[in-house]
Amino acid sequence: MKIGCPKEIKPQEFRVGMTPDAAREAVAHGHAVIVQTGAGVGAGFTDEDYVTAGAEIIDTAAEVFATADMIVKVKEPQAAERKMLREGQVLFTYLHLAPDPEQTQDLLASGCTAIAYETVTDDRGGLPLLSPMSEVAGRLAPQMGAWTLQKANGGRGVLMGGVPGVAPAKVVVVGGGVVGTHAAKIAAGMGADVTVLDRSLPRLKYLDDVFGGMFKNQYSTAGATADLVRDADMVIGAVLIPGAAAPKLVTRAQLADMKPGAALVDVAIDQGGCFETSRATTHADPIYEVDGIMHYCVANMPGAVARTSTQALGNATLPFLLNLADKGWRQACEDDPHLLNGLNVHAGQLTYYAVGKALGIDVISPSLALKS
Ligand SMILES: NC(=O)c1ccc[n+]([C@@H]2O[C@H](COP(=O)([O-])OP(=O)(O)OC[C@H]3O[C@@H](n4cnc5c(N)ncnc54)[C@H](O)[C@@H]3O)[C@@H](O)[C@H]2O)c1
Repeated sequence: MKIGCPKEIKPQEFRVGMTPDAAREAVAHGHAVIVQTGAGVGAGFTDEDYVTAGAEIIDTAAEVFATADMIVKVKEPQAAERKMLREGQVLFTYLHLAPDPEQTQDLLASGCTAIAYETVTDDRGGLPLLSPMSEVAGRLAPQMGAWTLQKANGGRGVLMGGVPGVAPAKVVVVGGGVVGTHAAKIAAGMGADVTVLDRSLPRLKYLDDVFGGMFKNQYSTAGATADLVRDADMVIGAVLIPGAAAPKLVTRAQLADMKPGAALVDVAIDQGGCFETSRATTHADPIYEVDGIMHYCVANMPGAVARTSTQALGNATLPFLLNLADKGWRQACEDDPHLLNGLNVHAGQLTYYAVGKALGIDVISPSLALKS
């Protein structure tokens, strides 16, 4: 199979769909890999790295799209890229179609077969191609929060780990899923005094069993949250209610009770945010102040560490990518129901129910698409 990896063109996107290591593995499986010149530069990979791995460097995205059997990307195809997709071509990338009718119509019109990273599943009910980005955002959250807490950035001037004789920062993590657990681990590793709140008792039991000595946990009620937030130097928002906007767990009125210069890091901002005063910010201008409390609310946090994010995403996508290339999409999806769950669009038809429901478009079952 000819696998094509174009340079990402969405603003502020520095990741790339395939690392040189992924290219090397695909080549070892007998496939041809074509990479657009400069595609890996934002993540620290040169054209030479890809050539050494056995890939071919191509000048333009148009040539990559025109010749590849499968396109591997990070972000949803932009309008110009969608025009270059064609019938029979496989697209493997993040799509997030439900809130994006224009993209959905273009993908349907192209006739391509689109497999979305975000809906591929695993045996434990997880989303294996989404969780690496949650791991990155979670681990980045205390790092950005610590920076926000610095005096020059408007923060309280508190050091995460304290020093001998001075207490460490108090960090509260609301939501103990993938983001929250990774945030808590790093904050505790920096020496902070960390408490994780969650609404799921099985999750709290897991956190207690595995991380009991490292950070505390508490059941998430409005009262417990209010008490902990009042006393916190940093609050990290990491809740998720699948398919719904994030619940607002800290109100504007509560900011008045907090310590001046405390930091709110709202990782859940991509779902609307879990603090009432959160609004999405960018890496170029990441923080702002409301009622004396500093807010960090960057919606695409993994972009700040594009190299780590590319490698983490590449590790997760590689087995699926190789299966798609080795077997062809039909056989690969037939053999792996989790990959089949990733199928969103095939030959002008939508194959993912939640997207069809959100956009009012008819859907055929993915297993029917396998036969068409
Ligand atoms: N900003 C970014 O760049 C970025 C990157 C990755 C993920 N995210 C977002 O981070 C959020 C968390 O993602 P995740 O992968 O950790 O999800 P997850 O499903 O693994 O964890 C969410 C947790 O929130 C808990 N929860 C739900 N309601 C709660 C409440 N009222 N109080 C306390 N806990 C509650 C759940 O029990 C669950 O354990 C999502 O909104 C996700 O989209 C943002």
